[in-house]
Amino acid sequence: MGKEIIQIKDLKVYYPIRSGFWNRITDYVRAVDGVNFSINEGETYGLIGESGSGKSTTGKAIVGIEKVTGGQIMYKGVDITKASNRKKLNYNKDVQMIFQDSMSSMNPRKRIEDIIAEPIRNFENLTTDQERDRVQELLDIVGMPSDAIYKYPHEFSGGQRQRIGVARAVATNPKLIIADEPTSALDLSVQAQVLNFMKHIQQQYNIAYLFISHDLGVVKHMSENLAIMHRGRLVELGSRDEIYKHPMHIYTKRLLSAIPQVDVANREAHKAERERVEHEFLENQSKWYDADGRVFPLQEVTPNHLVALPEGGIRAAIQEEQNEKESD
Ligand SMILES: Nc1ncnc2c1ncn2[C@@H]1O[C@H](COP(=O)(O)OP(=O)(O)O)[C@@H](O)[C@H]1O
Ligand SMILES: [Mg+2]
Repeated sequence: MGKEIIQIKDLKVYYPIRSGFWNRITDYVRAVDGVNFSINEGETYGLIGESGSGKSTTGKAIVGIEKVTGGQIMYKGVDITKASNRKKLNYNKDVQMIFQDSMSSMNPRKRIEDIIAEPIRNFENLTTDQERDRVQELLDIVGMPSDAIYKYPHEFSGGQRQRIGVARAVATNPKLIIADEPTSALDLSVQAQVLNFMKHIQQQYNIAYLFISHDLGVVKHMSENLAIMHRGRLVELGSRDEIYKHPMHIYTKRLLSAIPQVDVANREAHKAERERVEHEFLENQSKWYDADGRVFPLQEVTPNHLVALPEGGIRAAIQEEQNEKESD
């Protein structure tokens, strides 16, 4: 396992809710409410959860485009939630982001050359020729033809635009890329292509990804470690194998059972399992949430498996887990 590249400690991002005649702050949306995890050099770390669980806000807080309410983001031993540290470490060069909808993050009136060159211009002083060579090289890396530089974003398909988005993110030689649902808007066949070349680029340049997705099926093939997010908090965190084989939180089990089954032979069994899990969820969900409907703090079950276990039921939950392991 690689060295830790970034450490998220008790991260909180609250959005104020204003109301009334004076437009005063009356409450907060706790979009991210005390999140802890860390990513190793060169790995893909999966962050999974339903829409609204706080994944994008977490990603934006890490790249520094969302203001942090509390907690720390440690990079090279320094807390980069302080803007001065971010500058000192060249953090904005080392950490880039790819969005689900690359169209909205690209200026429609700019040619691809300028779109990809923009981050390079922020950090390097290249001549026009050097810059063009670099953009051509990046287009080549993501499998795009070289005449793409003269074109505009709308002239490409969604899959091609995601390639351009990756080229732009890779332009500064980053150590970490936050990939926020990078394939969610694409057709299945195109999704697989984009995931493949993202993997390829990762291996070539030793880039770490924070791979954000609502789809556990996609993340399964991408990530070594993952965290499940729910209502602004982490529900379960650990290695991919541990979580897929021995999910413990009732919410993780529910997400896993909802992955569509491609294998026709298993479909009936899968449907029965899904119904069983759904029943269990409805029966027991109150145990797994506090009075405000939030999940409990994470507790270590094994060294690389943390679960938001209910206060009273820890022993029972671990026992149940061990029984399952023995019967495997
Ligand atoms: N700029 C904002 N102002 C107020 N609330 C926001 C803002 N952005 C996101 N939220 C709220 O924060 C919560 C988490 O959103 P988000 O991080 O986008 O979740 P996800 O990416 O998992 O779908 C949601 O309830 C969302 O409505
Ligand atoms: Mg999102």
